[in-house]
Amino acid sequence: MTEALPPPPRASFASDNAAGVAPEVMEALVAANAGPALAYGQDPWSAAAEDALRDLVGVPDAEVLMCWGGTGANVVGLALAVQPWQAVLCVDSAHIVVDECGAPARFTGATIVPVPHVAGKLVPEALAPFLHWQGVEHHPQPGAVSISQATEMGTVYTVDEVAALAEVAHAHDMVLHVDGARIANALVASGTDLRTMVRDTGVDVLTFGLTKDGAMYGEAVLVLRPELARAARYVRKQAGQLPSKARFVAAQVTALLEGDRWLAHARRANALAVRLAERVGAVPGVEVVRPPEVNSVFATLPAAAIAPLQGWSFFWPWDPERSEVRWMTGFATTEDDVDRFAAGVEAVVAPLVGP
Ligand SMILES: Cc1ncc(COP(=O)(O)O)c(C=O)c1O
Repeated sequence: MTEALPPPPRASFASDNAAGVAPEVMEALVAANAGPALAYGQDPWSAAAEDALRDLVGVPDAEVLMCWGGTGANVVGLALAVQPWQAVLCVDSAHIVVDECGAPARFTGATIVPVPHVAGKLVPEALAPFLHWQGVEHHPQPGAVSISQATEMGTVYTVDEVAALAEVAHAHDMVLHVDGARIANALVASGTDLRTMVRDTGVDVLTFGLTKDGAMYGEAVLVLRPELARAARYVRKQAGQLPSKARFVAAQVTALLEGDRWLAHARRANALAVRLAERVGAVPGVEVVRPPEVNSVFATLPAAAIAPLQGWSFFWPWDPERSEVRWMTGFATTEDDVDRFAAGVEAVVAPLVGP
């Protein structure tokens, strides 16, 4: 079977952080390396990047905190939102509950309460049972709702859906936190901008993703409600998320925002996921679980095809019980990568399915 396989694609479809660094980001890192600068964000690159993010989200007094990474940024954002006696409500597939080794629970001290999702999304009705916890001293007090935009299942909340969650959250004195590791992909998918999706809907704290969009490392926390930001800088430092040479995170932010590169990267990744879904969806034996909204393709295929394909071009299983896998595109994926990958899928799956 292996003989029939074409050469593997250059890009990895395992995840959108398998790609390297966007060339413009690398250039910006090199440019920021010109001589000394004060550490811990007291440098001109950090001031410029913080201003640019404030402007982008349209909240002039937003607190902007550069952090080392996504888990750390979520920890910082949530630690501003809740106390140890409170609860964070999120879906059971949320990165903060499944993929961060319990960091948000440990660092905030709060209880992370997973609720059932609908296609990866949190729906207001799912919050209802937990709202009865409020005011009952035996229960952790729901203090925040956390959603991922885009979701871990590659779905995207509409502006109205985010606004509806913000309304419920605020009506119950809760904070709405958004894990925006893929906020750029979500924005281009929904054809809207950050202000509309985040500020106008009532989001209180946003983790603004950079790494999956072409950065080497680093994410930013945007705190849109000044009263939540009072302890922000201390919380970030205590959580180990204040980068010493912060200018190098900041330079990446500026490079990605310049000329809306961050959106162009996401647009490319999303479009290539559509191409991939079309190509692999045409292979008998492969079923694309749902049309891609962002840069991930979820598909089921014969179980016997998975290991040989992984050996050829590695990717992660998604739900082994259902023989479901996830393939992801990124800013550096090319059309050729997609076509080669799909050809490999066909070469492995076709003999298993037969004519
Ligand atoms: C939804 C989501 N949130 C956050 C992260 C960031 O995690 P990390 O700590 O690996 O940067 C990821 C990365 O996979 C993610 O998919």
